[in-house]
Amino acid sequence: MLPFEALLDVTATAAVSALAVGGIGLAVLRLVRTRRMAVQLAVVAVATVSAIVAGIIAITLRMFISSHDRDVALTVVAIAGLVGLGVAVLLGRRLARANQALVTAVRAEPFTAPAQVLPAELAELSRELEAAYDRLAAAHTREQALEASRRELVAWVSHDLRTPLAGLRAMAEALEDEVVVDEETVRRYHGRIRAEVDRLTEMVDDLFELSRIHSGTLRLSRQRVGLDDLVAEIVAGAEPLARAKGVRVRGAAERGLPLEVDTAELSRALRNLVVNAIRHTPSDGSVEILGEAGDGRALLSVADCCGGIPAEDLPRVFDVAFRGESARTPGEGGAGLGLAIARGIVEAHEGEIAVANAGPGCRFTVELPLAR
Ligand SMILES: Nc1ncnc2c1ncn2[C@@H]1O[C@H](COP(=O)(O)OP(=O)(O)OP(=O)(O)O)[C@@H](O)[C@H]1O
Ligand SMILES: [Mg+2]
Repeated sequence: MLPFEALLDVTATAAVSALAVGGIGLAVLRLVRTRRMAVQLAVVAVATVSAIVAGIIAITLRMFISSHDRDVALTVVAIAGLVGLGVAVLLGRRLARANQALVTAVRAEPFTAPAQVLPAELAELSRELEAAYDRLAAAHTREQALEASRRELVAWVSHDLRTPLAGLRAMAEALEDEVVVDEETVRRYHGRIRAEVDRLTEMVDDLFELSRIHSGTLRLSRQRVGLDDLVAEIVAGAEPLARAKGVRVRGAAERGLPLEVDTAELSRALRNLVVNAIRHTPSDGSVEILGEAGDGRALLSVADCCGGIPAEDLPRVFDVAFRGESARTPGEGGAGLGLAIARGIVEAHEGEIAVANAGPGCRFTVELPLAR
């Protein structure tokens, strides 16, 4: 056993020489930091062995061990060092292979995680890459669907404008050339001309609103309003259309739930939901508008008796220009803008809009933050 002072001396000597070699090792690692992993691992192995060798030589010089012991120790270290170097190079190669597998996977289309076993960090990177690719693919699909619906919108808008315009022209010409003269027909023509102009005006107005939403120029002028007042206003506004169709509209809302919204815009969104609900409910059916609180948010729902929306249509009803298969008769129904506008307005209010089939029809729900 070495006496305490000698032990301290040995420790200090070994530490100083190891630190010196370690410093050189770090400097070399800095120089080769852009080289391959195997090279850097080899530097680590060589630095470790060199630190041990330097320590042994320093201790021999301070005469704590004989030169015979030194040679034995150096031989042992040399052999261990060679093995360490070999292991480091093997590890470096394996890392390089794993890395190469990842690179190949990234270049392939689509990305599939490499089948081989990866070290934890690379495995995590691979999982993240896979998730990123999935998000990218989803965004691409969304983008394509949007582009398709935009093309469809342009086609429908031009068609929907052209058909009534041709009708308007024909009626105007007939009146001008006095082809129709009997009072009854003239009155009917005037009535139809007004109705068509109203419909076209509404469509142009919807297009304008949609373009404001999409270009981000929709400015909300918020004011405080009770959820019950909002529901009452929507019910009252829907009354004439509902009566004309023989549909009952019922509204109910919890009192004292304040919202801070642009009432004109939000009413427009809700009106679109209610008009749809009435339009798709057979006469004698009913439409229910409910307002309640849940999870610190206001929940508005519009339920109808439309018989349910086909499952494959549910995710698409909010798309611009989407209007279900049954509505594809020219000149009938709307342009498929109502729900896209409703979604845009609700989202501008930091709210969410959704649809699900429920009971005898479907239920549109709007979730909005409550005012503080
Ligand atoms: N309450 C509902 N019940 C059944 N189907 C609905 C309902 N609301 C919407 N849909 C379906 O979703 C489509 C899109 O609705 P949206 O309100 O966006 O357009 P639209 O009513 O056809 O036209 P617009 O609202 O521009 O006059 C409708 O054409 C219809 O097929
Ligand atoms: Mg509509």
